[in-house]
Amino acid sequence: MDNQQFLGLIGKMTLEEKIAQLVQLAAPFYEGVSDEGQITGPMEAMGITDSMVTNSGSILGYAGAAGAIAVQEAHLKKNPHGIPLLFMADIVHGFRTIFPVPLAIGCSWDLELAEKSSEIAAREAAVSGIHVTFAPMVDLVRDPRWGRVMESTGEDPYLNSLFARAFVRGTQGDNLKEEVERVAACVKHFAAYGAAEAGRDYNTVDLSERQMREYYLPAYKAALDEGCEMVMTSFNTVDGIPASANEKLMRGLLREEWGFDGVLISDWGAVKELIPHGVAEDEREAAYRAIRAGVDIEMMTACYVHELPELVRSGRVDEALVDEAVLRILQLKDKLGLFENPHRGANPEREAEVIFSREHRDAAYELAVKSTVLLKNEGVLPLRPEAKAALIGPFASSGDILGPWSWDGRKEDAVKLDRALAERLGEGRLTVAEGCGVESGTEEQLQEALAAAGGADVIVLALGEDSDMSGEAGSRSDIRLPQVQLDLIARIAELGKPVAAVLFNGRPLDLHGVYDRVDAVVEAWFPGSEGGAAIADILIGAADPSARLTMSFPHSVGQVPVYYNHYNTGRPQGAPDAQVRYVSQYLDAPNEPLLPFGFGLSYTTFEYGAPALSSDEMTAESPITITVDVTNTGARAGIETVQLYVRDVAGEVVRPVRELKGYAKLELAPGERGTAVFTLSEEQLRYHHSDLSFKSDPGRFEIFVGPNSRDTSNASFKLI
Ligand code: BGC
Repeated sequence: MDNQQFLGLIGKMTLEEKIAQLVQLAAPFYEGVSDEGQITGPMEAMGITDSMVTNSGSILGYAGAAGAIAVQEAHLKKNPHGIPLLFMADIVHGFRTIFPVPLAIGCSWDLELAEKSSEIAAREAAVSGIHVTFAPMVDLVRDPRWGRVMESTGEDPYLNSLFARAFVRGTQGDNLKEEVERVAACVKHFAAYGAAEAGRDYNTVDLSERQMREYYLPAYKAALDEGCEMVMTSFNTVDGIPASANEKLMRGLLREEWGFDGVLISDWGAVKELIPHGVAEDEREAAYRAIRAGVDIEMMTACYVHELPELVRSGRVDEALVDEAVLRILQLKDKLGLFENPHRGANPEREAEVIFSREHRDAAYELAVKSTVLLKNEGVLPLRPEAKAALIGPFASSGDILGPWSWDGRKEDAVKLDRALAERLGEGRLTVAEGCGVESGTEEQLQEALAAAGGADVIVLALGEDSDMSGEAGSRSDIRLPQVQLDLIARIAELGKPVAAVLFNGRPLDLHGVYDRVDAVVEAWFPGSEGGAAIADILIGAADPSARLTMSFPHSVGQVPVYYNHYNTGRPQGAPDAQVRYVSQYLDAPNEPLLPFGFGLSYTTFEYGAPALSSDEMTAESPITITVDVTNTGARAGIETVQLYVRDVAGEVVRPVRELKGYAKLELAPGERGTAVFTLSEEQLRYHHSDLSFKSDPGRFEIFVGPNSRDTSNASFKLI
């Protein structure tokens, strides 16, 4: 259909029919009114009438091809204009085949695999009848107390932007009409949801516009540059106004400045939440503010359907605002081909073929291997082939390794570590004991674990947070492992045997009581459906750990937020003229995190040569090239992620001490030398000035190259 036809259709719709397109209801609403015509359950509670459902535009959370086809068919029979429903759901890191959580995917620094994971997630979703996924989540994160850091790829705007693009590409492909096994992407949560004060979910966000533009906005913009069809508002305030009512942010920045003309959906209940936020007295004001801000779809509250008719009739809201929102929704339905093919990819046969297929699981395995970060290794890993091992801890035999937002992921399908490790080590070489639960344990469990450990040469502890301890509404103020697990580590460490800890969790942890007590630490995150297989292969050395942290691990929670791309302050620690006391520092903790951004070990070692610059002067027309030789000095093949950082020594406004500008992955055989080559141009040195203009400043820049953001060699050049 073209726009003329859409406008014709909109012209034929009543005001109520149009407004109903703007409501999104969850699946139970489509189960219909009772035989006696009674409205009960969620419809009654929300004041939703049968005709609102009949005319509604989209549904949240349906999955299963047969069911989706039936719901769509029934809907089309009833809807007076034959407008199909959009089916939307949160397919965040897999549909049934679950990939590692996005924070883990970030640590892979592997854009191809990230794209593939979204493509597979989209395929499984599309054949089950879904048209839109509420992903990618690209909120920049600095505070591990916030449970939703597991949904983000981390603390760096450049890397987050690359991942945002990869996820959108994988999800949407090139043509949603033709590729019915892709789905539309919805980037979220716009904007700056990741900056919730004190890491408490839904809490206030208050950032300067410069800070927003420098750090928080680039990844959303990148997703849109890649053609992302939808945007979701965030729950938080942006400069004092909740995102869902924020005209400056939505109409100003998103629509006018960035030119976004796709569908903007509120987060769940966020329109009605304008009332407790304190910017609307009642549902009418909430609807007024949200439609004025440009929110097209109200998710799961009914302010629009209840209040917009009267707001339009009284002349307070221009009907054109409603028409505009309906038009965007119809256009999206058309892009997805729903007018010609309302069932789109929904297909029970394909569902049986592709969902959780071997091919999909292999991709999940590969990404789980590539997302696992080796944080410490003092000679324990890989496990020696002849060693007898004990696997101990609440995650030894647990299927709770998929992580939050695992749509149709099933814990019972997950490859568990005990089984995978036993298969690989062979008969009689592994004993398994739980030791304790995630948050509590018994003396009996402990004794059993000590007995298992007593008979082993090496102990692998499988520890962590269960999946309810992170994710939405999963904030914690203490980000250590639960005490019972710390006690277990202490008791096992007393045996004096080599110990490796594998951690399953959704956030950077305070590793007191872990890092200092064991010989090796493997950060498995929530590795997904094939997690056990991937971790077991890493433990025995059949696979090499190659991931690098994309979020700093704090020394302790008191340092939070702690991130690599911070400013220097006027009294930095370690300056040649620094005083003993009056510098920016803690009296009781270092300034640096325990493990910095970019950090991760391999089973081999790499040696870096000095970075060489093609010139020590750069101009707008002549970029410079930076090369660095890296040699694999160990006995095994391995992958090194060579990282390039830049510092603008003196800007018009203060600049971060380091900013990632590029990285290169080198796969090197033992003894092999490779060269990482980076091109750096003036464009990459631009930043937002005090008047928000985006440009570079001439002057001196430092360059840092190394295996992480801390252990680098430097050089410098001048921009003229
Ligand atoms: C979350 C969103 C999600 C939505 C729909 C909300 O609570 O914040 O990320 O997309 O629910 O499930």
